[in-house]
Amino acid sequence: MVVAVIYFSRYGKNIQAGRCQYINVGNTAMVAKKIEIILDVKGTEIVPINQYPDDYFETKVRAQQEFLNNERVKIKPVNFDETEHSIVLGFPNWWGTMPQAVKSFLMKYDLAGKNIYPFVTHEGSQFGQSLDDLKKLAPRSQVMSGLPIRGTRAYKSENAVINWLGNLDLK
Ligand SMILES: Cc1cc2nc3c(=O)[nH]c(=O)nc-3n(C[C@H](O)[C@H](O)[C@H](O)COP(=O)(O)O)c2cc1C
Repeated sequence: MVVAVIYFSRYGKNIQAGRCQYINVGNTAMVAKKIEIILDVKGTEIVPINQYPDDYFETKVRAQQEFLNNERVKIKPVNFDETEHSIVLGFPNWWGTMPQAVKSFLMKYDLAGKNIYPFVTHEGSQFGQSLDDLKKLAPRSQVMSGLPIRGTRAYKSENAVINWLGNLDLK
């Protein structure tokens, strides 16, 4: 079975290893990289046209406004093989659900008939409302068993990822 790995992640100041520090690779990207290696596929990022600030708290404020206004955040084209039957979709939990940019992706691309395997990185809320939102935004897709990873533990998520993918029998 061939899979497309698609994810959103943010670089810059972030909570990692218990404190706010500058990081080059976002937590979700870190998990995505492990998935890419295990599945031997190259992932694709969902990239907003208007980048988020480096600052963690400024990002939180902007993301909250976008969430409260249910803004359709503009994203760059996401290049993935739309014939793939399975999509591994990763995102951070932002304000209790997926970032608006990920909602934009789901509105822009038709994933009907596909199996979506979601994973989330978070600081305690796990998937929050995101699975309900995912089902609403991709009503003709099958939302499969997902993997929540605490963002601060993304760097050591390998075993959790291997177990999850193994149980999905994707390889
Ligand atoms: C804008 C914003 C909102 C967030 N909201 C939540 C939240 O509601 N619940 C939660 O558990 N974590 C929340 N977090 C923490 C992130 O989910 C967590 O740090 C995640 O691993 C970030 O992933 P990334 O580095 O790939 O962007 C939030 C972080 C940001 C920047």
